[in-house]
Amino acid sequence: MLADLHDIGRDPATGGYRRYAWNDADMELREWFAGEAAARGMEVFEDGNGNQFAWWGSGGDALLIGSHLDSVPDGGAYDGPLGVVSSFAAVDRLRADGFEPSRPIVIGNFADEEGARFGIACAGSQLVTGALAADRALAQKDRDGVTMAEVLRARGRDPHAVGATDLLDHVGTFVELHVEQGRSLVHTGDAVGVASAIWPHGRWRLDFCGEANHAGATVMEDRRDPMQAYAATVLASRRLATDAGVRATFGRLEVEPGGTNAIPSRVRAWLDARAADEGELDRLVDNLVAAAQAAAEADGTTVELTPESVSPAVEFDGPLRDRLATLLDAPVLPTGAGHDAGVLSAHIPTAMLFVRNPTGISHSPAEFAEESDCDAGITALTSVVRELA
Ligand code: GLV
Ligand code: MN
Ligand code: MN
Repeated sequence: MLADLHDIGRDPATGGYRRYAWNDADMELREWFAGEAAARGMEVFEDGNGNQFAWWGSGGDALLIGSHLDSVPDGGAYDGPLGVVSSFAAVDRLRADGFEPSRPIVIGNFADEEGARFGIACAGSQLVTGALAADRALAQKDRDGVTMAEVLRARGRDPHAVGATDLLDHVGTFVELHVEQGRSLVHTGDAVGVASAIWPHGRWRLDFCGEANHAGATVMEDRRDPMQAYAATVLASRRLATDAGVRATFGRLEVEPGGTNAIPSRVRAWLDARAADEGELDRLVDNLVAAAQAAAEADGTTVELTPESVSPAVEFDGPLRDRLATLLDAPVLPTGAGHDAGVLSAHIPTAMLFVRNPTGISHSPAEFAEESDCDAGITALTSVVRELA
C-alpha cells in the first residue's frame, strides 16, 4: 500500500510530499482510501470536515484506528500514511485469522492534520470534536488568499456542514499508530513503543512592519527595516529555547515586497514553539515577544503577534497506555509532535503506538522506517485491536 501511495503528491525534484488539504494529491489520497475500504467491504463515511471513516461493523462504542494522509511541505512518506496503511493491514490480518470483533472497528483518515494549507494543526479532528469553531476554520486563508470555505465549495463540499458531529457518541476508543519522530526507540532497541504524552505546542504569526525604501539610496541610519528585528528575534529564539530546554523554530517567512534592491515594508514570520509544560511554553513566547519588541523599537519598526494554532499538553489515558505497553512489552515515551490522537484524548480513552525511525528525521523527505519495523507495527496494532475489540 505504501508503494501504491509513493508517487501521489511527490515532488520529483526534492522527493518530498506536498499533500495539502483538498489539493489534487489530497483528493487522490481520499479516493485511494475509499477504494481500499470498498475493496474490504467497509462502508466509508465522510463527515462535513472531510474526515473519512471506513467501518467494519456498525453500532456504538467503536474502536477507531487510523491517522492522516496529508503532509507538511516536502514531508516524508510515513508521517500519517503509515498509520492508515497499517490499519488496513491489521484488518486484513484479523480477517485472515477469522477474527470476529465484539465492537465495530473504524479506520479513520483525519483531514488537514498538518495544517500546512490553512495554518491550523489537526483541523479535521479539532472541528469534529468542537475544539475548533467552524466559522474560524472556514475563514482561514491559504497562501493564495483562498478561504477554506471557498476551497470546500470548489471540491463539491458544503461549508455549512463543517463543525462538530456525533462521532464521539459512536466511537469509544482511538489508537493511532505513527512513525516515531525522534530516536527514543533506537536507544531502547525496540521496534514499537507506546506514547505517554504530547508536549504543549503552538504556532504564532509575527508581523514585523517598517518602511519600504531604496536599497542603494537610503543610508543605514535612516532605515526602518523590519528584517533587522526579525533577524534579532530568530537569534533570541535559539538562545531562549536552548537556555530553557524547550524548542523554537522559524520555518516559514514572507517578505514584502520581496525585492533584492528594496528595504522590506513587512516581514511575516511563523514561530513554532514547544515545551514540556504550558508554563514553560508561555514563558518562552512571552520572552521572545519581549525580545522582538525591544529590537523593533530600537529600529523604529513594529511587531505584532497573532496566535494561530495552540495545542494544550496531552497526557494519554493511563490505564490504556499501561495495558498496551504490557500487552506489547513495549517502552513508553513522550513526544514533541502533535497528533489527532492528542485532540481526541480530551474526550475518549486514546493511545498511540510509535514505530522506530532509525534516523529520527521527520517532516522531511528523509523520514524512514525499516520494512521489518513497519511489519512489527502492524503486528502490534493487530494485537491491540484483538485485545480491545
Ligand atoms: C505535526 O506533525 C506537528 O507536530 O506539527
Ligand atoms: Mn507531522
Ligand atoms: Mn502525523
